[in-house]
Amino acid sequence: IPVSPFDLVIFGGTGDLAQRKILPGLFRRFVAGQIPTESRIIGAARADMDDAGYRDLIRAAIEEHAGKHSADKDAVEDFLRHLSYVPVDAMGEGGWKELQELLVDDEERVRAFYFSVGPNLFGPLAEQLRSHGLAQRESRIVVEKPFGHDLETARALNEELAQHFYEDQIYRIDHYLGKETVQNLMAVRFGNMLFEPLWNAQYIDHIQITVAETVGVGGRGSYYDNSGAMRDMVQNHLMQLLCLIAMEPPARFEADAVRDEKLKVIRALDPVDPDQIVRGQYTSDGTCASYREDAENPASKTESYIALKCFISNWRWANTPFYLRTGKRLSGRASEIAIVFKETPHSIFGIDSGRHRNVLSIRLQPNEGMTLGVTIKEPGPGGMRLVDVPLDMTFADALGEQAEDVTDAYERLIMDVIRGNQTLFMRGDEVEAAWAWTDPLIEGWERRGDNPKPYDAGSAGPDDAAFLINRDGRRWRSIKG
Ligand code: BG6
Repeated sequence: IPVSPFDLVIFGGTGDLAQRKILPGLFRRFVAGQIPTESRIIGAARADMDDAGYRDLIRAAIEEHAGKHSADKDAVEDFLRHLSYVPVDAMGEGGWKELQELLVDDEERVRAFYFSVGPNLFGPLAEQLRSHGLAQRESRIVVEKPFGHDLETARALNEELAQHFYEDQIYRIDHYLGKETVQNLMAVRFGNMLFEPLWNAQYIDHIQITVAETVGVGGRGSYYDNSGAMRDMVQNHLMQLLCLIAMEPPARFEADAVRDEKLKVIRALDPVDPDQIVRGQYTSDGTCASYREDAENPASKTESYIALKCFISNWRWANTPFYLRTGKRLSGRASEIAIVFKETPHSIFGIDSGRHRNVLSIRLQPNEGMTLGVTIKEPGPGGMRLVDVPLDMTFADALGEQAEDVTDAYERLIMDVIRGNQTLFMRGDEVEAAWAWTDPLIEGWERRGDNPKPYDAGSAGPDDAAFLINRDGRRWRSIKG
């Protein structure tokens, strides 16, 4: 869909996210012809720098992070011509007039302000934009996580932003929603006749959502130690995945229709018993620092791993367990949703044929794709022995070059902001509902003073996490090392 020329201001324009994701992503959209030539991209931050200095910084960032297109030097220089820089003081007066002068004076023009800054600046920036007359009806703000630290702070932030912007101008990013495979989840569910009739408690035994990472928290320990895996990953990314798997079909693929359905899922989540939660913290395996070293907090009780079992109390999902787990410094980087179907009600092949369950696995990363485990006859003359084989669809194989050039989550989401499409962004009430579910769980372990279980870096997480699911007669899917 073509877009009209726009102005995009990136607060925190010299920061890590801007350099790694936002600007390389915009460059790739530029190469794809989606950034009209009259558009302006303005970096704003505290540092004193001129346009040339900013372009140098971003040139290096594009070379490092924009992939194969950055080899096209002319394209890089063409793109950099759209960039300018203005030093702005988020809390004071400096730079706002200069910023105003860089924006095109046109009420109809889309202005997007990306708050790639700490959450303590969201409110002040929103206020500055309005009081300096930079916000118009066609203006949008984009805010990054963490969106609040708990329900109270999230609510306060929503209220603060609402003083200056309408809800339809506020884009709360959860970059998991921009991932190609996450959207594919909706395509699979609602674009095929095959799955939806079976997508309920009657046919599904349980669901596993895994986001396993090999990285530690080094470098961002002070942020992370104050959050932990529950706040950093479950409250947002895993919760969003859960919503897309569990929601009722929205009538249309439109922002509020989708977000209404997601909200209903969050509100139907049961509280989780403490004995259905396992928290872990990585220790050193000799080759890397331990969590406590990374966090520079020798007494830290923050979890770098969490596994939990939860239920959605509604007609579709009653009594179907959802097992969620995520952690740092695990044996492999693997994000996967696995829908494990029930066994057939009766085996005509007798007990020797074994127990078989179809599993639909949706791999978010790496090796994006889907596999459906199907039971067939084991080849050979040995009678009716059954075996499970994968019907595998790796996007890179199935779609060739098209899949290679998959849009990064950030570039897709930024273009959605420009187009004014909020479908893949979180609404204020959704974020609050997610905190309302996580808060009591966090308060529970804080009140009890629970220590997270130690687990070795490079392992699959604490043993107790295996026990959490094994005692139900089920097993975690493997995180490949
Ligand atoms: C971020 C978290 O939101 O998501 C990080 O703060 C995490 O801790 C990251 O590593 C994972 O994102 P991705 O896209 O690499 O799976």
